[in-house]
Amino acid sequence: MGSQLHSGFDFLPAYLDRAEQEALLATLQPLIEAAPFFRPTMPKTGKTFSVEMTNLGARGWVSDREGGYRNQATHPFTGLPWPQIPDVLLTLWRQVADYPILPEACLVNLYRTGAKMGLHVDGDERDPKAPVVSVSLGDQAIFRLGGPQRGGPTTSLKLSSGDVVVLGGASRHFYHGIDRVLSGSSSLIPGGGRINLTMRVVG
Ligand code: SIN
Ligand code: FE2
Repeated sequence: MGSQLHSGFDFLPAYLDRAEQEALLATLQPLIEAAPFFRPTMPKTGKTFSVEMTNLGARGWVSDREGGYRNQATHPFTGLPWPQIPDVLLTLWRQVADYPILPEACLVNLYRTGAKMGLHVDGDERDPKAPVVSVSLGDQAIFRLGGPQRGGPTTSLKLSSGDVVVLGGASRHFYHGIDRVLSGSSSLIPGGGRINLTMRVVG
């Protein structure tokens, strides 16, 4: 059972055990080889994200100076369609999302040393009823959760490898981000770091 910190926000610690985490990572490896991590840039400023990204699914999320935030079917550098979301992740979605439509995008974020993610709302999907399901692998991270308005009160939560978070209901559009990653806190990912998967229905 998860703990319901805010309406629709569900924290499911240790949802995947070590063997399941290793199996998921092994499943991801060839998909990431086919769709390598890239560094997105901010709309307008062109500032580089510290997080590296890639996607799975028909409608991956990308960002760059020229085109801004958007969902698209192909990798911006290889031009190839994103690999499909593997069954193990679709099964996890069915277990925790409480939503009848399967995700069309799985954003894969790679946090190497020093990478973090500023407070933001996941606002590019059209269906507000579909949750975002997030899976953490590798090093622990300090996740910050706010409310619907920038500048409001926030709480922080340590996310460990195998933890699952569901941003549903009111929390679907709450501000959130990653303050920092605790480098060296997990041995799961070769070369160290953290991978976060977020599945979304784009709508
Ligand atoms: C995100 O908000 O896209 C990523 C959250 C995380 O890395 O846990
Ligand atoms: Fe997000």
